[in-house]
Amino acid sequence: MSVIPMTNDIILEGIDLTKHFGGGGLLSSPTVVRAVDGVSLSVQRGETFAIVGESGCGKSTLGRLLLRLIEPTGGDVRYEGKSILGLNKSEMRKLRREMQIIFQDPFASLNPRMNVGDIIAEPIWLHGLGRGKEKRERVADLMRTVGLIPTHTDRYPHEFSGGQRQRIGIARALAGDPKLIIGDEPVSALDVSIQAQIINLLEDLKQRFGLTLVIVAHDLAVIRHMSDRVAVMYLGEIVELSETDELFDNPLHPYTQALLAAIPIPNPMNRQPKALLQGDVPSPAAPPSGCRFHTRCPHARPLCKEQHPALEAAPDGRKVACHFWREIQGAGAGSISAPSQSAALSKRLALYRTWRERQDNPVTTSP
Ligand SMILES: Nc1ncnc2c1ncn2[C@@H]1O[C@H](COP(=O)(O)OP(=O)(O)OP(=O)(O)O)[C@@H](O)[C@H]1O
Ligand SMILES: [Mg+2]
Repeated sequence: MSVIPMTNDIILEGIDLTKHFGGGGLLSSPTVVRAVDGVSLSVQRGETFAIVGESGCGKSTLGRLLLRLIEPTGGDVRYEGKSILGLNKSEMRKLRREMQIIFQDPFASLNPRMNVGDIIAEPIWLHGLGRGKEKRERVADLMRTVGLIPTHTDRYPHEFSGGQRQRIGIARALAGDPKLIIGDEPVSALDVSIQAQIINLLEDLKQRFGLTLVIVAHDLAVIRHMSDRVAVMYLGEIVELSETDELFDNPLHPYTQALLAAIPIPNPMNRQPKALLQGDVPSPAAPPSGCRFHTRCPHARPLCKEQHPALEAAPDGRKVACHFWREIQGAGAGSISAPSQSAALSKRLALYRTWRERQDNPVTTSP
C-alpha cells in the first residue's frame, strides 16, 4: 500500500451511476435487477482504490460501468474530467488503451486458441504500437516485466499455471501503456501464496509505470494490503468510503463492522468476534425499503425501514450511509478488529519480498 497525498487530481469519476438489468424489451426478464444504484465515486491518479462487498452486491457491474464495457441506465462516467458516455466507437477504442481490465479467471479471459505471444501482441497491433521485430521485442519485454520467460511466446494458455496465466493477463493489459487498470478479483482464483506474488507484481508495476489501480475484491485481507481507499458496497450502493487504515481501525457502518468481524481467525486462542450479520443478502431485484441493510443490521430502528440514508460526510473525509453511525460509534461497536488473516498474508508478502530482494540483489562478499 502506498501513501498518496490527497490531491484533486481525479482520473476517473462515477457520478450517480445506475445499472438496472431486465425490465424491458422483448428478450429481457420482466424483473428489474438493481445491480448498481446511484453510485458516485472519484478515483485519484496514482492511488489504489478498492471496491469491496459480498457476492452479488454489484462490484463487477460497477467496474464494467467505469470502463464503459456496459452502458449505464443512468449517471455519468468521467475520465480525466470528460464524460466518456458520448464517445463514439473509435474514440472509445483509443481510450481503452489507457483504461484496461484484468479478470478473476485468467483462463476464461485468455483465448485458448491463441499462443501467448499473439495474446500479448494483439493490443500492440490493435493500437498501432509496433509491427514486426518491434512488436516481438515489446512482447518479450512485457513478458520479462511480469516475470514470464520471454521465449515461451509460442505456448498456449493451458500450458501455464494459474499464477502464470494471470501474469499473461497483466502483460496484455500493460501492452497498450495504460494509465489505469481495473482488476476484477485479480487474485481470488489463485492459491494464497500465488496471490501474494501477483499482489506484489501489481504493486511493483503500479510504481514503475505510475498506474492507477481500481481493485474489485471480496477478500478484505487483499484490500488491506493493496489499497489506499476503500468503497464498501451493499446491494448496489456504497455504504462507506474511507481511507484503508481508518476503515480497518474504526469501521463506521454496521455492515463494514460485520464484514470485518466475519474474517475467519485461524488461531483458536483468538476468540471469533460475535457474528453480527444474519441471513443472506436480499435480492437486488427487490431491495429492502429505507436502508437496504436494515433487514440484517443489529442496530436497525424503525426509521431505517422507512428512510433511505444518504452517503454523508463523516470526520476525516470519510463517508458513511447510516442514520445512526454516531450512536453506534458511541456504543463502542467500532472497535472490532480481525487482523490475523491479513497478518498471515502480510507474513507471506514479507517472505516473498525478502526472497525477491535476494533474487534481485544476490549476496556478494562484503569488502
Ligand atoms: N448481465 C446481467 N443480467 C442480469 N443480471 C445481472 C447481469 N450482470 C449482473 N447481474 C446481477 O446484478 C447483480 C450484481 O452482480 P455483480 O456481478 O456486479 O456482483 P458482484 O458484486 O461482482 O458479485 P461477485 O462477488 O459474485 O462477483 C447480481 O444480482 C447479478 O445477478
Ligand atoms: Mg464480480
